[in-house]
Amino acid sequence: MVENLQGDSGRGYYLEMLIGTPPQAVADMTEESKGGHTLKKSEKCCSKLNILVDTGSSNFAVAGVPDPDVTSYFNTELSSTYQSQGIEVTVKYSQGSWTGVLGTDVVTIPKGIDGRYTINIATILESENFFLPGVKWHGILGLAYDTLAKPSSSVETFFDSLVKQAKIPNIFSLQMCGAGLPVSGSGTNGGSLVLGGIEPSLYKGNIWYTPIKEEWYYQVEILKLEVGGQNLELDCREYNADKAIVDSGTTLLRLPQKVFSAVVQAIARTSLIQEFSSGFWSGSQLACWDKTERPWSLFPKLSIYMRDENSSRSFRISILPQLYIQPILGIGENLQCYRFGISSSTNALVIGATVMEGFYVIFDRAQRRVGFAVSPCAEVDGSPVSEIEGPFTTTDVASNCVSSITFHEPVLWIASYALMSLCGIILLILIILLLIPPRCQHRYTDNDVVNDESSLVRHRWK
Ligand SMILES: *[C@@H]1O[C@H](CO)[C@@H](O)[C@H](O)[C@H]1NC(C)=O
Repeated sequence: MVENLQGDSGRGYYLEMLIGTPPQAVADMTEESKGGHTLKKSEKCCSKLNILVDTGSSNFAVAGVPDPDVTSYFNTELSSTYQSQGIEVTVKYSQGSWTGVLGTDVVTIPKGIDGRYTINIATILESENFFLPGVKWHGILGLAYDTLAKPSSSVETFFDSLVKQAKIPNIFSLQMCGAGLPVSGSGTNGGSLVLGGIEPSLYKGNIWYTPIKEEWYYQVEILKLEVGGQNLELDCREYNADKAIVDSGTTLLRLPQKVFSAVVQAIARTSLIQEFSSGFWSGSQLACWDKTERPWSLFPKLSIYMRDENSSRSFRISILPQLYIQPILGIGENLQCYRFGISSSTNALVIGATVMEGFYVIFDRAQRRVGFAVSPCAEVDGSPVSEIEGPFTTTDVASNCVSSITFHEPVLWIASYALMSLCGIILLILIILLLIPPRCQHRYTDNDVVNDESSLVRHRWK
């Protein structure tokens, strides 16, 4: 399962799959033009579908009808094993969404594990800003927990089905190899998705593990940030506002607004460049240097501290500027332009592709932890662009940086009961006033936006 992915940080990393019986998977778009949208049964068989690997959502969905921006799609009518459940499902991203129909069919992963597995599939019938021009994938593989699955958590996720049917350990790991290469370049950078385990050739040194705080996204606890070795000194809860997640479907490193401002200030202060237009930091402008120059030496290292499994310890993952000052392909003759690979977020710290390209990341669901190790492919001009060090003490940070639903203090329990009662009273009033059955305040209030503003969708670089 090594080298089974293709892609880049700009448009995501994808895996080949075959869907249905026979594993036809793809209809040729050029065939369906005459006479409305009826498809010829003779269309090309057995091309593979490219499926985006996304640890920030939990549905498996593929294009189910022709779309101007996808080169192929899954035609359920041509599969003898397809079974529709007739349930409509919509998944929204802050920019982009799709609506489809739930069903099941048989899937094979040629460069994954042997065998055919019956999986829930949403076939996308309509979408908006989801498939964009130039994107080379036709579907999405949501690898997060069933809590995030639509329309409800009863839709078993792809990976849960795989664990049950293939009897593989409940763990997968991901290596994305686009460090230092142009964003949205040829789209042939490699990567690996290892289903069911850890592949020793994909990392160097030790694996450091941080607990999964809550099983929905892969939510972790960030303790501290350093820019050029200088602690930002923010309250550690700011780093987890309102969650910190590991998401391969997000292009950039996204930081809560306060943290983002502090990081930009610190980088601007530390970097050797006098003036930078604010447009560079906000992502609306590129910065360009002569092709013979490398700007990376002008920028500082960025370190993220996470809590170790032993809660009185931490470790830090560091990315060098080669990962967050990202070359953009083909603008200007003698210039090479770069974008800032960090952006601000209103609701999360997202460890996206910008950071993940430095590491081999282990999603150890069985032991409820995420592991990080230095990735051998995270090298630019022969030098590593990522580091992991530890252990460090956690005496300088709060014992909990995540505002959690599970309170441990009796006082907080009382407060929570009080709030719940208040909530109940308000609901009662609402019932009386509106004569509408109340819906309990859902715990994940942003549940409808699976990938936050994050995603693929938003930060895709055309
Ligand atoms: C946790 O880390 C502390 C500090 O390094 C150490 O003293 C303690 O023995 C560790 N606990 C376990 C269970 O390993």
